[in-house]
Amino acid sequence: MNNDLKRILNYLNEQRSFDFSGYRTSMVERRIKQRFLSIKCASDNDYLNYLHENPDELDNLIDVLTINVSRFFRDTLMFEYFADRILPAVIHQKKEADDRTLRIWSSGCAMGEEPYSIAILVKEFFKKDALDININLFATDIDDKILKKAQKVAFPFESIKNVKYRLLKKYFVCKGKLFHLIPEIRNLVSFSAYDLLDKKSYAPPESIFGSFDMVLCRNVLIYFDTEYQDRIFDKLYRSLAKKGYLVLGEAEIPSMKFQGRFRQVNECCHIYQKI
Ligand SMILES: C[S@@+](CC[C@H](N)C(=O)[O-])C[C@H]1O[C@@H](n2cnc3c(N)ncnc32)[C@H](O)[C@@H]1O
Repeated sequence: MNNDLKRILNYLNEQRSFDFSGYRTSMVERRIKQRFLSIKCASDNDYLNYLHENPDELDNLIDVLTINVSRFFRDTLMFEYFADRILPAVIHQKKEADDRTLRIWSSGCAMGEEPYSIAILVKEFFKKDALDININLFATDIDDKILKKAQKVAFPFESIKNVKYRLLKKYFVCKGKLFHLIPEIRNLVSFSAYDLLDKKSYAPPESIFGSFDMVLCRNVLIYFDTEYQDRIFDKLYRSLAKKGYLVLGEAEIPSMKFQGRFRQVNECCHIYQKI
């Protein structure tokens, strides 16, 4: 990474406490260039000067670097497998252990599409098998702005394209061009800001302790270099309960260092069980 880019990232870290130094250099270079060209800066150095003179531009820079793209039931096969196999297996284990709390963490949740998809499936499951179980669904992201949007629960058509019609009718209300999620689902998810690179804790403080039955970290690790991926895997591993499940994105697998600590439960989906 060139010195100007490093200075841009340092400035962003000093001003807003966002540390992007562990992100893949090629991604950071591409995204910053795209941003500075759009405001007619000629170079990284020009852009750095622009940032000093226009601190509000830091918000736009954070927006291009965080990449909040998501949608409900992104990777439909994974969600089907979760509903058909993983959730019943976890609930069975809970019954055996006389444990009445289901704990799930969606880390890097963007606008909530992922945790809300899980909440819908959990709700559907408990309709079939009414058990006395507390559902703790935590959703975190580094980006405060996106978390505020997540709590407004209003989604464009593009976000809900993978939702089955039956579920769409049941859990969303269409107002104008937006699909609003009903409070029954909204209230199942607790949102908070949390940086996966945070060194002080291995789980979001709001969750009090880790011990999650399942952690989703999808389409986040692809942005980090290997050293930082290892740091995140270490955190995810520690935050999981014994035999807990880790769900990754379609293009992600456990880093070399962690391959012996997880077993893939099915070759079609990136769901791994802690060994
Ligand atoms: C592409 S979205 C993935 C959303 C969802 N998990 C999915 O797969 O559809 C990546 C999210 O990771 C978040 N993110 C990036 N770096 C992070 C970090 N260090 N800690 C927590 N979240 C981070 C971004 O803000 C963004 O919302």
